[in-house]
Amino acid sequence: MGVSFAVAASNLTNLVRDFLFDQRTREDYQMTERVAEAVAPELAYLSADSLNRILESNAETMDGRLMVLDTNGKVQFDTFGALCGRRLELEEVLQVLTGGSEEAYGFYTPGRETVEKMSGESGADYVAYCAREIRLGERRLGVILFVSRIQSLMDSLNTVQWQLVTVFLVIALGALVLALILSQVVTKPITDLSRIMGKMGKGDLSVRAPIRGSGEMKELAEAYNTMAAQLESIDKTRNQFVSNASHELKTPLATMKIMLETMMYQPDMPRELQREFMEDMNHEIDRLTGIITDLLTLTQTDAKAKELKKEPVDLSGLTEEIIRLLSPAAKKRGQSLTGEVEKGLTMRGDRNRLHQVLYNLTDNAMKYTPDGGAIHVSLHLDGEELVWRVRDNGVGIPEEDQDHVFERFYRVDKARSRETGGTGLGLSIVRQLVTLHGGTVTVKSRMGEGSEFIVRLPKEGA
Ligand SMILES: Nc1ncnc2c1ncn2[C@@H]1O[C@H](COP(=O)(O)OP(=O)(O)OP(=O)(O)O)[C@@H](O)[C@H]1O
Ligand SMILES: [Mg+2]
Repeated sequence: MGVSFAVAASNLTNLVRDFLFDQRTREDYQMTERVAEAVAPELAYLSADSLNRILESNAETMDGRLMVLDTNGKVQFDTFGALCGRRLELEEVLQVLTGGSEEAYGFYTPGRETVEKMSGESGADYVAYCAREIRLGERRLGVILFVSRIQSLMDSLNTVQWQLVTVFLVIALGALVLALILSQVVTKPITDLSRIMGKMGKGDLSVRAPIRGSGEMKELAEAYNTMAAQLESIDKTRNQFVSNASHELKTPLATMKIMLETMMYQPDMPRELQREFMEDMNHEIDRLTGIITDLLTLTQTDAKAKELKKEPVDLSGLTEEIIRLLSPAAKKRGQSLTGEVEKGLTMRGDRNRLHQVLYNLTDNAMKYTPDGGAIHVSLHLDGEELVWRVRDNGVGIPEEDQDHVFERFYRVDKARSRETGGTGLGLSIVRQLVTLHGGTVTVKSRMGEGSEFIVRLPKEGA
């Protein structure tokens, strides 16, 4: 841009100079021609006095020096009086005398002897020579030479040039400052963001981009922050999951180790007690296996979501089957397990997974309901959705825990759940499987009155 502007500026000064010089040349030609016409008759009749008068007065109005030369190039009259009788070997004069042209013009820079001599001053000024033939009818009488100083012209040209340079510099500087500011405005947020991303790349997921300005940069920063927040929460959940899982696995192992050591260092332990310890250990192993199976279910369905079967499942039959399956256990505890199942309801899905959903919910209802309580399981069609409801009149779930019961390893009453053998994975498996089938699971509960879990599944599956 700077280069193009410099070119434009120099073109502009050239244009101005050409215009000014052209104008000056035309003016000088016109004036000199007029004088030439005026002096022609005087020169023809050799009336030196009136010729001198004409020259003097014209030289004054024209602000310059006028000379009349004969056809040999010898100065006859000179308003400065200095060169009379001398021959002038000036190019302009020669052009008119021998070159066959009527007039000639030339600009001269200071520093040339002739110029200094001709301008009549020892100053170093620019001068212009304007030569024109003096002719009367067909006869050529000589040449008139008009010498004028053009310093003022050069001065104004210089001024124009300087003004242009100044304007150019100001504009160039302005453009530079503007470019700097713009690049700051445009690239600063981007470099900021990439620095922050670099930090995240090194593992710091807590960094967030500052939300500034408007438009695309703001959107980008916001999108980045959402992504970072999600990554951070995934990271947190995963860490929590791992630590919870190891904790759950460690507890039964520790219990077994204590029992085993007791048996090892007390060889004279009564057989009865030994047997009891072994039964406990067997129970712990069952619990471990259960936890591991649950964890596998969770991670497998995580990874193999796409491998979920999609076959017609007789949901009515499945519901009745589960009620039948769990009835003996309920009876043992004096609980009533009743069902209200709409006939012939089917959906597309994975039979084993759906079985697991209702089994877990019913198992919970029984587990968290005291002996002699009532559990009710129902299946209905609601528009395009199949709705399972599992209701109990058990302990209930506190309001603040209801949002969390579907999280992995979440238990309301830690101590009691451990006793009843729960790890807090059942409901997270339920939610995962229901979601995979395109459905939802919610809970309604009141402390001390009971709970109701509601599963809504689309007939067509996911
Ligand atoms: N019907 C219910 N009534 C009252 N509380 C319940 C009921 N169902 C679940 N809860 C609460 O929600 C918690 C989470 O249930 P979830 O089924 O996920 O785990 P769990 O039953 O403790 O263990 P498991 O992994 O063996 O199922 C339970 O520990 C219990 O506190
Ligand atoms: Mg459970």
